[in-house]
Amino acid sequence: MAEALRVGIAGLGTVGASVARVLRDKAAELTRQCGRDIVVTAVSARDRKRDRGIDLSAATWFDDPIKLAEKADIDVFVELIGGDEGPARLAVKAALEAGRHVVTANKALLAKHGVALAEIAEKKGVLLNYEAAVAGGIPVIKTMREAMAGNAVTRVFGILNGTCNYILTRMEAEGISFDACLKDAQRLGYAEADPTFDIEGHDTAHKLSILTSLAFGTKIAANDIYMEGISNITQADIRAAADLGYRIKLLGVAQRTDSGIEQRVHPTMVPTASVIAQVHGVTNAVAIETDILGELLLSGPGAGGNATASAVIGDIADIAKSRPGFQHAPVFGWPAKELKPYKKAQMRSHAGGYFIRLTVHDRIGVFAAIAKRMADNDISLESIVQQAAGTETEAQKTVILVTHETTEAAVRKAVEGITKDGHLTDKPQVIRIERAE
Ligand SMILES: NC(=O)c1ccc[n+]([C@@H]2O[C@H](COP(=O)([O-])OP(=O)(O)OC[C@H]3O[C@@H](n4cnc5c(N)ncnc54)[C@H](OP(=O)(O)O)[C@@H]3O)[C@@H](O)[C@H]2O)c1
Repeated sequence: MAEALRVGIAGLGTVGASVARVLRDKAAELTRQCGRDIVVTAVSARDRKRDRGIDLSAATWFDDPIKLAEKADIDVFVELIGGDEGPARLAVKAALEAGRHVVTANKALLAKHGVALAEIAEKKGVLLNYEAAVAGGIPVIKTMREAMAGNAVTRVFGILNGTCNYILTRMEAEGISFDACLKDAQRLGYAEADPTFDIEGHDTAHKLSILTSLAFGTKIAANDIYMEGISNITQADIRAAADLGYRIKLLGVAQRTDSGIEQRVHPTMVPTASVIAQVHGVTNAVAIETDILGELLLSGPGAGGNATASAVIGDIADIAKSRPGFQHAPVFGWPAKELKPYKKAQMRSHAGGYFIRLTVHDRIGVFAAIAKRMADNDISLESIVQQAAGTETEAQKTVILVTHETTEAAVRKAVEGITKDGHLTDKPQVIRIERAE
């Protein structure tokens, strides 16, 4: 049997401790599958005394994860610290430069420094595996990088943040407000004390930027993502969506268009009958649309110690099975040096259907004025409905419009015009409609 694969784990929190535990509990199965033992020989975290629920005394302890990456007797450095700078970045870089394979679950690090790190890995002939960084336990990286060779991706989109999907699912199922759902999610541990990163779309954007690079062979461009969170979604939107045959999901979408690549994260209406609309609670899903395959949808647990550990261990097992001298798949599907510059499509040229909810003064002529602003901007309407919702005063009405395919620029101009006309009593709500099978 080949020599054991020696693993160093930096970060022994939710994911790191689960990885260590599963490697211990599944040691026999992994040895059989990989043809060699996988042994944790070094570990690092901040607090040496903390009980991790697993005996790690056989592994050498390092206070400094960078030292572990550089000096420990390891073949693979597993980074489960988190953060786009500091010890996570320095340790990953040090490990790659020392010629060690790296496995990480750190989307923030890859979104910011992924291409530079991939260049080092490819130069050194080692693997940089990161299956757990996007959609936790769902094997989407391997699917896109290896199983879809020859396919040209036209669009990739997904539910990439469990916290947002949990909140939107409960808002719809129980008719409760965004704020009440968020509080509950925090109490149950599904949302952080400071939830901004999740609910305003940053976490989804990090993951999307990695999928975009895999899909289109472009450099990661995490700062070029149009982003809107879910904090302004109300019960009125959820109810109107349901009446119209839609469900609201926070999606990350990357799409090739004639003018470049769109990367956008925003609340989206998807047809209630579509597969992605059936993805509830903290579950994640990624849909990949290609010229050969059509649309593929993967769904499953996007977070949690064990689910994330499953992806990390899959990455470690791939390294255990790889043989010296064998050419590795490039980190982002194409050699890092050959990734093309990202050509951004302007959001104003985004084409699609739109849901527009307006709260207006209940006056004669308002309806006609709204219809005129739409027509002036060449927006063709699928429906325009006036509602008297329970929360409004007698002097107000809700007008809900659904457009046929139009552009973002036209919708913005029309809504600006309606706002200038002085008919609105509240901020207009605009939600994009996404095509989904
Ligand atoms: N949790 C999930 O469900 C999930 C899912 C997908 C991806 N991820 C990613 O996985 C990574 C780890 O997440 P997590 O949830 O496991 O985080 P976590 O529970 O906060 O654990 C972080 C670990 O890093 C250690 N650490 C922090 N600073 C350190 C330093 N300077 N030197 C050495 N160790 C240090 C901490 O040590 P102490 O324990 O001593 O404080 C802790 O063990 C992140 O990149 C995250 O984005 C997490």
